[in-house]
Amino acid sequence: MSETPTDQRTDERGSVTDPAPDAAPNPRATEAEVRAAYDDPKLANVLYHDWEADTYDEKWSISYDDRCVDYAVGRFHYAAGVPAKPFERALELGCGTGFFLLNLMQGGIAKKGSVTDLSPGMVQVALRNAENLGLDVDGRVGDAERIPYPDDSFDLVVGHAVLHHIPDVEAAMREVLRVLKPGGRFVFAGDPTRVGDFYARRLGRATWWLTTRITRLPALSSWRRPQQELDESSRAAALEAVVDLHTFVPSELERTARAAGAVRVHARTEEFTAALLGWPVRTFEAAVPREKLGFGWAMFAYRSWLRLSWLDSHLRNWLPRDLFYNVLVTGRKAARRDPE
Ligand SMILES: C[S@@+](CC[C@H](N)C(=O)[O-])C[C@H]1O[C@@H](n2cnc3c(N)ncnc32)[C@H](O)[C@@H]1O
Repeated sequence: MSETPTDQRTDERGSVTDPAPDAAPNPRATEAEVRAAYDDPKLANVLYHDWEADTYDEKWSISYDDRCVDYAVGRFHYAAGVPAKPFERALELGCGTGFFLLNLMQGGIAKKGSVTDLSPGMVQVALRNAENLGLDVDGRVGDAERIPYPDDSFDLVVGHAVLHHIPDVEAAMREVLRVLKPGGRFVFAGDPTRVGDFYARRLGRATWWLTTRITRLPALSSWRRPQQELDESSRAAALEAVVDLHTFVPSELERTARAAGAVRVHARTEEFTAALLGWPVRTFEAAVPREKLGFGWAMFAYRSWLRLSWLDSHLRNWLPRDLFYNVLVTGRKAARRDPE
């Protein structure tokens, strides 16, 4: 599939030009579009993420304060080390609402930013967030397999939780290397490992099954979300299954990046016990009425995640990297005379 409902035009190299950063998001897809999306992961991505754009930050507890700045910068440092100086120009692929790049910019990793996403709704929200934060950011609707920027444009390309949505990851990596300047770096974080996805999905499904059954008991009826909302969540989960295309074995992801032409490639992983807790917690939160879980619950979930992440940072020295839930990969475009 190559067409998306984003009103893009292509130039002679097949790159997307004249993108439509202000194309209307599509929160109300037609029945026919939704049906077609089940066979078309890119269309599914546009519909699903346009529909989610305005509520995405709230749903995933995304903020642009110290908590998320520390998280984003921490992921960057873990993958790529501490840069000697800020990158002049950075691009984010599959930016969503801008969580990764905007927080990296606030944390001093990059000075000027560009955001791209297949979903016009997401680009719109990311640009709004950047403006509210006073950051120097432009945005274009675009496909990671045909990045809408010229060759050698960026010092840094980043992405968070995006690689697993892209049908042809190697083609996207080739595009990343095309738009990077020689010697430029890429960092992708937040994608699921094959083993991690196996246990996370099972834990999530078991929590959903248990919570929705237990809250049918009359004594717990106030903990049950209205059936219509539960049905909507199930439909969203079905579409989510269409947009989630890959899980990664870290060594295979490294091979993919090298096959695309990257040098100095390295994948690392993180979150094991934190994921074992995090998936049931997030699924439980989605299965009960929001007002039932107040500030105390949010603090419990966040502090537990912090403690378990600390534990995981030690377990990383002992357990195989394939066991952890999140994979991060970094590498470079060869400098003009860089040895392989
Ligand atoms: C799970 S969301 C992550 C958003 C954001 N990076 C974050 O971490 O909050 C994945 C994003 O990738 C976008 N996406 C999916 N496939 C894409 C593609 N082929 N090219 C560009 N963006 C894509 C989706 O529209 C969505 O906004």
